Amino acid sequence: MFLGTRLIRRLSVILLITSFFVLWGECALAGPEEKKEEDPKKKELKELMKKIDHWYKQSEERMGYNMVTNSDFEVFLKTGETVSSLSDVLLKKFVPPDDKIYLKETKDMKKYSDEMIKSATERYVGAYEDIQYSFGRLRNTCKNCHNHLGIQIYTSLYPGETSKETP
Ligand code: HEC
Repeated sequence: MFLGTRLIRRLSVILLITSFFVLWGECALAGPEEKKEEDPKKKELKELMKKIDHWYKQSEERMGYNMVTNSDFEVFLKTGETVSSLSDVLLKKFVPPDDKIYLKETKDMKKYSDEMIKSATERYVGAYEDIQYSFGRLRNTCKNCHNHLGIQIYTSLYPGETSKETP
């Protein structure tokens, strides 16, 4: 009985020390991670880009068709509206005052998404061709701005393409 109590004591000391190290390790890991999450502006920009990316991909899936339906046009419209209004947010809150390229690419992003809105709303003969053209221009703004900032996401965004800037 005496031996059993000593064993339990010893075991609980070991357990205590182990949990101390586990906790310590977790704190050390969580530290810098938490700091990153604390920058709300960076987080907001990331969320904004994710929304742009979501609608960008919805339209990308519908490029190169022989025929498009009204529901495709609705997607192009939604892409244009989302990217255009988020470009406004970029212009208002995120464009660094001394970065001309950032500014130009943001303005272009707005311009080409507005073109998409127009063609997708009017749905005239040739509207789809115009949307494909505007979408191609829009895609270049993503590429140019990321390239300018050294953001390496081309391979996942545009498989098989280089990151060279395109006018
Ligand atoms: C004017 C500059 C600019 C333009 C134009 C731009 N981006 Fe970005 N993008 C950024 C910046 C800055 C980041 C880095 C955000 C961060 O800190 O996570 C980023 C990050 C991203 C990310 C990664 C988000 C994440 O999860 O970390 C995706 C995806 C993305 N952009 C998609 C797009 C797409 C699609 C377009 C074009 C329709 C586009 N971007 C146009 C500046 C731009």
